[in-house]
Amino acid sequence: CGKQEAKPAKVLKVGSEAAFAPFEFQDESTKEYVGFDIDLIKAIGKQMGAEVQIQNMGFDGLIPGLEANSIDLAISGMTITEERAKKVSFSKPYYKSGLTMVVKSDNTSIKSFKDLEGKNIAVQLGTTGADEAKKVKDAQIREFNSAPEAFLELKAGGVDAVVNDKPVNEYYIAKAGGKDAKMVGEPLTAEDYGIAASAKNKELIAQVDKALEELKKNGEYEKIYVKWFGK
Ligand code: ARG
Repeated sequence: CGKQEAKPAKVLKVGSEAAFAPFEFQDESTKEYVGFDIDLIKAIGKQMGAEVQIQNMGFDGLIPGLEANSIDLAISGMTITEERAKKVSFSKPYYKSGLTMVVKSDNTSIKSFKDLEGKNIAVQLGTTGADEAKKVKDAQIREFNSAPEAFLELKAGGVDAVVNDKPVNEYYIAKAGGKDAKMVGEPLTAEDYGIAASAKNKELIAQVDKALEELKKNGEYEKIYVKWFGK
C-alpha cells in the first residue's frame, strides 16, 4: 500500500472482433466499442494501471496478431480450447457459454442439432460454431466473417440455420433485428470464454487473472454482468 507514485501510463493493445453483441460491438451513434467484454477489459486495464486501446479485427486474425505481437491481449468472446491453448495463453474463464442454433420463426423441421443433417448451415469463420457445424453429416457449411453476416444469410433464406454462441443468438433475436428468427436446441457445448495473450506472455496473463479476481471480489464484475445480461 501507499506505493502510488506516478508510473508511465502503460498501453494495452487489445484485439477484438467487434461485431458480437452483447460482448463487443460498435455503438451506432457514438461509434464507440461497447459491450460486456469491452467493459470488462477496461476495468481490468484500470486495475492494472493501463490504458486499453481496442483494435477491431477479424476473429481469425486475433491469434496470429498475438503471435506476431501486434496486439497484447485479445478479448472477443473467445472460447478456451485445447487447440488454441497450444498457441496462446488464456486467463481464467470469465464467462460460461455454449452453442445453440437460430432458425427462421416458421421453421418446423429443425428442433435439435440432429436435425441439421443434410442442411445448409451458416457460421462465423474460425469459431467453435464452425468446428461443430463441420461435424454434422452431409451438411453444407457457409463461413462468414462475422455473426451478423451469418444471420443476414439466414434472413435472406440462403441457409437453414446459424450455429453460434447462445448469448449472442439471444441478443440478436431480442434486440438486433432477429424478430423473424428463433433459437432452438439445448446448448450443444459448454464453453468458457478466456482472455488471451501470446504464449510467451505468461506474466501478462498472471496480471490479468489477478485483476479479474479483484473485480470479482469487489463487485465490479457483477455490476458489468448485470448491466449486459440482467440478473
Ligand atoms: N466463442 C466462439 C469461439 O471462440 C465464437 C467467438 C466469436 N467472437 C467474436 N467476437 N466474433 O470460437
